[in-house]
Amino acid sequence: MLAECLEVMDLAPGMTVIDGTLGAAGHSVSFGQAIAPGGRLVGLDRDEEILQHAERALRELQARCDGLQISLHHVSFAEMARILESEGLDGCDRVFLDLGVSSLQLDSIPRGFTFMHDAPLDMRMDRQSATTAEAWLRQVNRADLERVLRDYGGEKFARRIAGAIVEARRRHRIERTSQLVDIIAKALPAAARRQRIHFATRSFQAIRIAVNDELGMLERGLEAALRCLRPGGRLAVIAFHSAEDRICKRFLRERMDLPFRKPIVAGAAEVLRNPRARSARLRCGVKREVA
Ligand SMILES: C[S@@+](CC[C@H](N)C(=O)[O-])C[C@H]1O[C@@H](n2cnc3c(N)ncnc32)[C@H](O)[C@@H]1O
Repeated sequence: MLAECLEVMDLAPGMTVIDGTLGAAGHSVSFGQAIAPGGRLVGLDRDEEILQHAERALRELQARCDGLQISLHHVSFAEMARILESEGLDGCDRVFLDLGVSSLQLDSIPRGFTFMHDAPLDMRMDRQSATTAEAWLRQVNRADLERVLRDYGGEKFARRIAGAIVEARRRHRIERTSQLVDIIAKALPAAARRQRIHFATRSFQAIRIAVNDELGMLERGLEAALRCLRPGGRLAVIAFHSAEDRICKRFLRERMDLPFRKPIVAGAAEVLRNPRARSARLRCGVKREVA
Protein backbone atom coordinates (compact mmCIF):
# COMPACT_ATOMS: atom_id res chain seq x y z
CA MET A 1 0.00 0.00 0.00
CA LEU A 2 2.92 2.29 -0.70
CA ALA A 3 1.06 4.71 -2.99
CA GLU A 4 -1.81 4.99 -0.52
CA CYS A 5 0.62 5.57 2.35
CA LEU A 6 2.40 8.33 0.46
CA GLU A 7 -0.92 9.97 -0.24
CA VAL A 8 -2.09 10.00 3.38
CA MET A 9 1.35 10.96 4.71
CA ASP A 10 1.32 14.06 2.47
CA LEU A 11 5.08 14.61 2.81
CA ALA A 12 7.11 17.69 1.86
CA PRO A 13 10.84 18.51 1.80
CA GLY A 14 12.30 19.35 5.20
CA MET A 15 9.80 17.38 7.28
CA THR A 16 10.69 15.20 10.27
CA VAL A 17 9.21 11.70 10.03
CA ILE A 18 9.23 8.86 12.55
CA ASP A 19 8.82 5.40 11.00
CA GLY A 20 8.02 3.38 14.13
CA THR A 21 8.08 0.01 12.35
CA LEU A 22 11.00 0.35 9.98
CA GLY A 23 11.14 -3.30 8.85
CA ALA A 24 13.12 -3.61 5.62
CA ALA A 25 12.62 0.15 5.10
CA GLY A 26 10.42 -0.29 2.03
CA HIS A 27 8.19 2.57 3.13
CA SER A 28 10.97 4.64 4.63
CA VAL A 29 13.00 4.75 1.43
CA SER A 30 10.05 6.46 -0.24
CA PHE A 31 9.44 8.71 2.76
CA GLY A 32 13.11 9.75 2.71
CA GLN A 33 12.91 10.66 -0.96
CA ALA A 34 9.80 12.75 -0.34
CA ILE A 35 11.25 14.78 2.55
CA ALA A 36 14.60 15.53 0.82
CA PRO A 37 16.29 17.92 0.31
CA GLY A 38 16.77 18.35 4.02
CA GLY A 39 14.33 16.37 6.11
CA ARG A 40 14.92 14.01 8.99
CA LEU A 41 13.95 10.36 9.15
CA VAL A 42 13.93 8.57 12.50
CA GLY A 43 13.54 4.81 12.05
CA LEU A 44 12.63 2.48 14.92
CA ASP A 45 12.29 -1.30 15.14
CA ARG A 46 12.10 -3.73 18.03
CA ASP A 47 14.02 -6.26 16.00
CA GLU A 48 17.75 -5.70 15.86
CA GLU A 49 18.30 -8.11 12.96
CA ILE A 50 15.73 -6.30 10.85
CA LEU A 51 17.44 -2.99 11.52
CA GLN A 52 20.55 -4.31 9.81
CA HIS A 53 18.56 -4.88 6.61
CA ALA A 54 17.09 -1.40 6.83
CA GLU A 55 20.46 0.17 7.45
CA ARG A 56 21.81 -1.03 4.11
CA ALA A 57 18.84 0.31 2.14
CA LEU A 58 18.90 3.63 3.96
CA ARG A 59 22.65 4.16 3.59
CA GLU A 60 22.15 4.09 -0.18
CA LEU A 61 19.23 6.49 0.10
CA GLN A 62 21.24 8.94 2.16
CA ALA A 63 23.99 8.96 -0.44
CA ARG A 64 21.41 9.96 -3.09
CA CYS A 65 19.46 12.58 -1.11
CA ASP A 66 20.74 16.03 -0.37
CA GLY A 67 21.02 16.86 3.35
CA LEU A 68 18.69 14.07 4.45
CA GLN A 69 19.40 13.07 8.07
CA ILE A 70 18.67 9.48 9.08
CA SER A 71 18.92 7.84 12.48
CA LEU A 72 17.96 4.30 13.47
CA HIS A 73 17.13 2.95 16.91
CA HIS A 74 16.56 -0.53 18.25
CA VAL A 75 13.57 0.27 20.40
CA SER A 76 9.79 -0.14 20.57
CA PHE A 77 7.72 2.61 19.03
CA ALA A 78 6.18 3.01 22.50
CA GLU A 79 9.49 4.76 23.35
CA MET A 80 9.41 7.26 20.49
CA ALA A 81 9.02 10.35 22.69
CA ARG A 82 12.20 9.53 24.58
CA ILE A 83 14.07 8.92 21.32
CA LEU A 84 12.93 12.21 19.82
CA GLU A 85 14.08 14.04 22.93
CA SER A 86 17.44 12.25 22.87
CA GLU A 87 17.91 13.59 19.34
CA GLY A 88 17.24 17.13 20.55
CA LEU A 89 13.99 17.41 18.59
CA ASP A 90 10.94 19.10 20.07
CA GLY A 91 8.44 17.41 17.77
CA CYS A 92 7.84 15.74 14.43
CA ASP A 93 5.55 16.21 11.43
CA ARG A 94 4.60 12.61 10.66
CA VAL A 95 4.48 9.25 12.42
CA PHE A 96 4.01 6.00 10.51
CA LEU A 97 3.21 2.55 11.97
CA ASP A 98 2.94 -0.57 9.81
CA LEU A 99 1.96 -3.07 12.48
CA GLY A 100 2.68 -6.78 12.88
CA VAL A 101 5.54 -8.95 11.73
CA SER A 102 7.55 -8.51 8.56
CA SER A 103 8.00 -11.25 5.98
CA LEU A 104 11.71 -11.20 6.86
CA GLN A 105 10.77 -12.35 10.36
CA LEU A 106 8.29 -14.96 9.13
CA ASP A 107 10.83 -16.31 6.65
CA SER A 108 13.59 -16.61 9.23
CA ILE A 109 13.12 -20.21 10.40
CA PRO A 110 15.06 -20.03 13.71
CA ARG A 111 12.83 -17.19 14.94
CA GLY A 112 9.99 -19.69 15.38
CA PHE A 113 7.21 -17.42 14.06
CA THR A 114 5.89 -19.99 11.62
CA PHE A 115 4.28 -23.40 11.88
CA MET A 116 5.68 -24.26 8.43
CA HIS A 117 9.10 -25.27 9.79
CA ASP A 118 10.33 -26.92 12.92
CA ALA A 119 12.24 -24.47 15.15
CA PRO A 120 12.50 -23.48 18.81
CA LEU A 121 9.31 -21.82 20.05
CA ASP A 122 10.72 -18.31 20.26
CA MET A 123 8.52 -15.73 18.46
CA ARG A 124 10.13 -12.73 20.15
CA MET A 125 10.39 -9.69 17.93
CA ASP A 126 12.99 -8.31 20.31
CA ARG A 127 15.43 -11.06 21.16
CA GLN A 128 16.54 -9.13 24.22
CA SER A 129 13.12 -9.43 25.80
CA ALA A 130 12.82 -12.11 28.44
CA THR A 131 9.78 -14.13 27.44
CA THR A 132 9.87 -16.56 24.55
CA ALA A 133 6.75 -18.36 23.34
CA GLU A 134 8.07 -21.46 25.07
CA ALA A 135 8.31 -19.62 28.43
CA TRP A 136 4.95 -17.95 27.90
CA LEU A 137 3.24 -21.28 27.20
CA ARG A 138 4.83 -22.74 30.31
CA GLN A 139 3.49 -20.00 32.61
CA VAL A 140 0.14 -18.91 31.22
CA ASN A 141 -2.95 -20.17 33.02
CA ARG A 142 -5.57 -22.05 31.13
CA ALA A 143 -8.22 -19.31 31.18
CA ASP A 144 -5.81 -16.66 29.86
CA LEU A 145 -4.55 -19.03 27.19
CA GLU A 146 -8.07 -19.72 26.02
CA ARG A 147 -8.87 -15.99 25.96
CA VAL A 148 -5.72 -15.19 23.95
CA LEU A 149 -6.46 -17.92 21.40
CA ARG A 150 -10.03 -16.72 21.02
CA ASP A 151 -9.54 -12.94 21.13
CA TYR A 152 -6.22 -12.57 19.28
CA GLY A 153 -6.54 -15.57 17.00
CA GLY A 154 -10.30 -15.72 16.44
CA GLU A 155 -9.91 -19.44 17.18
CA LYS A 156 -13.27 -21.20 17.53
CA PHE A 157 -11.67 -24.17 19.23
CA ALA A 158 -9.78 -22.04 21.76
CA ARG A 159 -11.06 -24.05 24.74
CA ARG A 160 -10.02 -27.39 23.25
CA ILE A 161 -6.60 -26.16 22.20
CA ALA A 162 -5.93 -24.46 25.56
CA GLY A 163 -6.95 -27.68 27.33
CA ALA A 164 -4.66 -29.77 25.11
CA ILE A 165 -1.68 -27.46 25.69
CA VAL A 166 -2.18 -27.51 29.48
CA GLU A 167 -2.51 -31.29 29.38
CA ALA A 168 0.60 -31.73 27.20
CA ARG A 169 2.80 -29.45 29.31
CA ARG A 170 2.09 -31.61 32.37
CA ARG A 171 3.78 -34.47 30.56
CA HIS A 172 6.66 -32.73 28.78
CA ARG A 173 8.13 -29.36 27.83
CA ILE A 174 6.71 -27.78 24.70
CA GLU A 175 9.86 -26.40 23.15
CA ARG A 176 9.46 -26.59 19.39
CA THR A 177 6.99 -25.29 16.82
CA SER A 178 6.39 -28.83 15.53
CA GLN A 179 5.32 -29.99 19.01
CA LEU A 180 2.82 -27.16 19.22
CA VAL A 181 1.47 -27.96 15.75
CA ASP A 182 0.96 -31.61 16.81
CA ILE A 183 -0.85 -30.62 19.99
CA ILE A 184 -3.17 -28.28 18.07
CA ALA A 185 -3.80 -30.93 15.39
CA LYS A 186 -4.82 -33.51 17.99
CA ALA A 187 -7.12 -31.03 19.76
CA LEU A 188 -9.11 -30.22 16.62
CA PRO A 189 -11.92 -32.17 15.00
CA ALA A 190 -10.82 -33.69 11.67
CA ALA A 191 -12.90 -31.26 9.58
CA ALA A 192 -11.20 -28.26 11.21
CA ARG A 193 -7.81 -29.62 10.14
CA ARG A 194 -8.82 -29.59 6.48
CA GLN A 195 -9.61 -25.87 6.07
CA ARG A 196 -8.06 -23.69 3.37
CA ILE A 197 -6.12 -21.77 5.99
CA HIS A 198 -3.67 -23.97 7.91
CA PHE A 199 -5.21 -25.08 11.20
CA ALA A 200 -2.32 -23.70 13.29
CA THR A 201 -2.40 -20.18 11.76
CA ARG A 202 -4.76 -18.67 14.31
CA SER A 203 -3.06 -20.13 17.36
CA PHE A 204 0.42 -19.08 16.20
CA GLN A 205 -0.79 -15.56 15.49
CA ALA A 206 -2.51 -15.31 18.88
CA ILE A 207 0.53 -16.56 20.81
CA ARG A 208 2.83 -14.19 18.90
CA ILE A 209 0.61 -11.21 19.74
CA ALA A 210 0.59 -12.16 23.42
CA VAL A 211 4.33 -12.93 23.65
CA ASN A 212 5.18 -9.53 22.16
CA ASP A 213 2.38 -7.65 23.98
CA GLU A 214 1.51 -6.19 20.59
CA LEU A 215 -1.78 -4.59 21.66
CA GLY A 216 -0.29 -3.03 24.81
CA MET A 217 2.58 -1.63 22.71
CA LEU A 218 0.11 -0.23 20.21
CA GLU A 219 -1.86 1.63 22.89
CA ARG A 220 1.34 3.12 24.29
CA GLY A 221 2.65 3.83 20.79
CA LEU A 222 -0.44 5.80 19.78
CA GLU A 223 -0.20 7.93 22.92
CA ALA A 224 3.50 8.50 22.27
CA ALA A 225 2.85 9.44 18.64
CA LEU A 226 0.29 12.03 19.65
CA ARG A 227 2.77 13.50 22.13
CA CYS A 228 5.52 13.69 19.50
CA LEU A 229 3.48 15.21 16.68
CA ARG A 230 3.31 18.96 16.18
CA PRO A 231 -0.20 20.40 15.80
CA GLY A 232 -1.33 19.69 12.24
CA GLY A 233 1.04 16.68 12.10
CA ARG A 234 -0.20 13.33 10.79
CA LEU A 235 -0.24 9.79 12.13
CA ALA A 236 -0.78 6.94 9.64
CA VAL A 237 -1.26 3.35 10.81
CA ILE A 238 -1.63 0.10 8.89
CA ALA A 239 -3.27 -2.69 10.90
CA PHE A 240 -3.70 -6.30 9.77
CA HIS A 241 -5.49 -7.58 12.81
CA SER A 242 -9.04 -6.59 13.71
CA ALA A 243 -8.16 -6.01 17.39
CA GLU A 244 -5.35 -3.64 16.34
CA ASP A 245 -7.61 -1.87 13.89
CA ARG A 246 -10.27 -1.39 16.57
CA ILE A 247 -7.74 0.23 18.91
CA CYS A 248 -6.54 2.58 16.13
CA LYS A 249 -10.04 3.46 15.00
CA ARG A 250 -11.16 4.42 18.50
CA PHE A 251 -7.98 6.36 19.27
CA LEU A 252 -8.06 8.36 16.04
CA ARG A 253 -11.74 9.10 16.33
CA GLU A 254 -11.54 10.27 19.94
CA ARG A 255 -8.21 12.08 19.97
CA MET A 256 -7.45 13.33 16.45
CA ASP A 257 -9.08 14.91 13.37
CA LEU A 258 -9.83 12.52 10.52
CA PRO A 259 -8.90 13.61 7.00
CA PHE A 260 -10.47 10.43 5.56
CA ARG A 261 -13.83 9.13 6.65
CA LYS A 262 -13.11 5.45 6.01
CA PRO A 263 -10.05 3.23 6.32
CA ILE A 264 -8.11 2.73 3.09
CA VAL A 265 -7.79 -0.88 1.91
CA ALA A 266 -5.47 -2.50 -0.61
CA GLY A 267 -6.59 -2.55 -4.26
CA ALA A 268 -7.49 -5.79 -6.07
CA ALA A 269 -4.17 -5.94 -7.94
CA GLU A 270 -2.18 -5.70 -4.71
CA VAL A 271 -4.28 -8.40 -3.01
CA LEU A 272 -3.62 -10.67 -5.99
CA ARG A 273 0.13 -10.07 -5.69
CA ASN A 274 0.15 -10.32 -1.90
CA PRO A 275 -2.86 -12.05 -0.32
CA ARG A 276 -1.84 -10.85 3.18
CA ALA A 277 -2.75 -7.30 2.05
CA ARG A 278 -6.40 -8.39 2.03
CA SER A 279 -6.80 -7.67 5.72
CA ALA A 280 -4.77 -4.43 5.81
CA ARG A 281 -6.52 -1.24 6.95
CA LEU A 282 -4.75 2.11 6.62
CA ARG A 283 -6.04 4.88 8.88
CA CYS A 284 -4.84 8.43 9.33
CA GLY A 285 -5.31 11.13 11.99
CA VAL A 286 -4.25 14.77 12.17
CA LYS A 287 -3.18 16.27 15.50
CA ARG A 288 -5.61 19.00 16.48
CA GLU A 289 -4.39 22.59 16.59
CA VAL A 290 -4.32 23.81 20.17
CA ALA A 291 -7.23 26.19 20.80
C1 LIG B 1 5.06 -5.12 8.73
S1 LIG B 1 6.69 -4.85 9.18
C2 LIG B 1 7.07 -3.26 8.56
C3 LIG B 1 7.51 -3.26 7.12
C4 LIG B 1 8.02 -1.93 6.64
N1 LIG B 1 6.97 -0.93 6.60
C5 LIG B 1 8.69 -2.05 5.30
O1 LIG B 1 8.34 -1.29 4.39
O2 LIG B 1 9.58 -2.89 5.14
C6 LIG B 1 6.57 -4.53 10.89
C7 LIG B 1 7.88 -4.24 11.59
O3 LIG B 1 7.57 -3.58 12.81
C8 LIG B 1 8.38 -4.08 13.84
N2 LIG B 1 7.62 -3.88 15.07
C9 LIG B 1 6.51 -4.50 15.49
N3 LIG B 1 6.10 -4.00 16.67
C10 LIG B 1 6.97 -3.02 16.99
C11 LIG B 1 7.09 -2.11 18.08
N4 LIG B 1 6.23 -2.12 19.12
N5 LIG B 1 8.09 -1.21 18.06
C12 LIG B 1 8.99 -1.17 17.04
N6 LIG B 1 8.93 -2.03 15.99
C13 LIG B 1 7.94 -2.93 15.96
C14 LIG B 1 8.62 -5.52 13.49
O4 LIG B 1 9.82 -5.96 14.09
C15 LIG B 1 8.71 -5.46 11.95
O5 LIG B 1 10.02 -5.30 11.52
